[in-house]
Amino acid sequence: MFGQPLIGEPEIEEVVKSMRAAWLGTGPKVKEFEELMAEYKGVKYAVAVNSCTAGLHLSCLAIGLQKRDEVILPAMTFCATINAVIHAGAVPVLVDVEPETFNMDPAHVRRKISPRTKAIMPVHFAGRACNMDELTSIAREHNLKIIEDCAHAIETEFRGRKTGTFGDCGVLSFYSTKNIVTGEGGMVLTNNADIAKRIKTLALHGMSEDAWKRFSDDGYKHYEVVEVGYKYNMMDLQAAIGMHQIKRVEKHWQRRLEIWQNYNKAFAGLPVSIPAPLEIDSLHALHLYTLLVDEKRAPVTRDHLITELHKRKIGTGVHYRAIPVHPVYQRLFGWRPEEYPVAHQVGRETVSLPLSAKLTDEDVKDVIEATRDILNPN
Ligand SMILES: Cc1ncc(COP(=O)(O)O)c(C=O)c1O
Repeated sequence: MFGQPLIGEPEIEEVVKSMRAAWLGTGPKVKEFEELMAEYKGVKYAVAVNSCTAGLHLSCLAIGLQKRDEVILPAMTFCATINAVIHAGAVPVLVDVEPETFNMDPAHVRRKISPRTKAIMPVHFAGRACNMDELTSIAREHNLKIIEDCAHAIETEFRGRKTGTFGDCGVLSFYSTKNIVTGEGGMVLTNNADIAKRIKTLALHGMSEDAWKRFSDDGYKHYEVVEVGYKYNMMDLQAAIGMHQIKRVEKHWQRRLEIWQNYNKAFAGLPVSIPAPLEIDSLHALHLYTLLVDEKRAPVTRDHLITELHKRKIGTGVHYRAIPVHPVYQRLFGWRPEEYPVAHQVGRETVSLPLSAKLTDEDVKDVIEATRDILNPN
């Protein structure tokens, strides 16, 4: 299976404690997980939600996007990034990505700015930091908000500063394959008290602050509904996992670095592209290790490699097919893949190999041997 998380005994014991205490929903463990993450990322506020998708949606609302406002996003990302903008009633505008980093190209961002542009949504792809110097100066010049999609970027730093702290909001994912998992889960980071408060309220039906405490031992408290909100809150059962995962984030990163370096060594001579070197002045979260399989160079196609690895019980992923290939976006916005040639090519050639800290040396050896065998059959 691709992306199996490494779950330790402390997580298991903490979940059991929540079960025994019979407090499953939002409560003290969510608060503790938020505090641990705020400290780790160095932000004033961290608001837990039930997915990164939910966090992106609420961030779009909290920064004040209005109908027909435009938001600039990369053509190489997961559909959730785009959908969040559409659900907020705004209009997504795509830009192509850089061939080395797969991150949104700041030069293209400049070209797509219109009088309606209100925000930029950079995605730190695979865990590699976007050029936040360039993007923040574009935002400053044009008075744009920034929401950073940090689904891949829990550990990521750009020139010594943690990602998720450059914009108005940064949004994390704790989905089961991510660098910290809670099963499903997400968190919005911000230094803005109003944004944090609004996201907290919107995540729980639009009820006034701390409504989750209404059934606690402190006695029943009335609440007021102050906005038409959503049901996006995180449960204590999920936070019970996350609050221990975060304590091992560095250890798991170190293990992924070992695997990454082994892959780099093993695949350097193969007729495929390996990830660009890690930048020395930034910290890569090492979330996805991707090969690009160009069928003109390689003996097999990307899809054939996936099938052959699957036959050998090695799970892979495709992160991602480019956004404009999907029919719904073509229908809604008239996007055509050829207009985003780099994203389109990456989407046709990319394959992600297993990179979980759970992999044993034996597993890594199996992945290497199988990949080399398929790509270098002679
Ligand atoms: C770049 C990106 N953004 C957003 C998401 C959505 O995350 P979640 O599954 O937590 O909603 C993902 C999930 O894979 C992602 O890769």
